[in-house]
Amino acid sequence: MSTNTIEANRRAGAFADHDELWLFGYGSLIYKAGFDYIERRPVRITGWARRFWQGSHDHRGTPGAPGRVVTLVAAPGETCTGMAYRVTPAVFDYLDHREKNGYLRAVQPMTFEDGHVEDGLAYIATADNAAWLGEASIDDIAEHIRTASGPSGPNRDYALHLADALRDMNVADTHCLAVADRLRALIAAE
Ligand code: BEZ
Repeated sequence: MSTNTIEANRRAGAFADHDELWLFGYGSLIYKAGFDYIERRPVRITGWARRFWQGSHDHRGTPGAPGRVVTLVAAPGETCTGMAYRVTPAVFDYLDHREKNGYLRAVQPMTFEDGHVEDGLAYIATADNAAWLGEASIDDIAEHIRTASGPSGPNRDYALHLADALRDMNVADTHCLAVADRLRALIAAE
């Protein structure tokens, strides 16, 4: 299965005339970029929450047994802390391909630790994409992640690395940390 968003992202073209721009990383980008960047800094966005509600058919799962990865969902009043990367536009060509399974670029105002705000781009998978899995209990999400695996490796590695990286940044992300805690308990009982 593929929702292939490459063309839609290319057409969107926000910041196309910029030499450098900010990318908001909130998932695997927090612990592993996989591309060259100019600098990176912790930032937060408001009105969004990180959730394991997106299916992964090409990285942490397969078309027959998709994994679960994070996306951003609208959450009025909440903030989501991530890592901003200052990059050249070429990075978006790479990420459009890597994240083609339902993620679309969206302009996002980001607040830096010194309080100043700048626009950047985030990849967001919304409920209308074909790989969407949606809400489930923490127990069900953790059990799902325990068994899934794909070309980029076990889904559990993704979830545990993300939780470790968030803890290192002192980010109290209750959803991701609860999934990781439950996942560790399930793995211990294997
Ligand atoms: C991230 O790790 O922030 C991310 C990048 C591309 C798509 C979804 C999440």
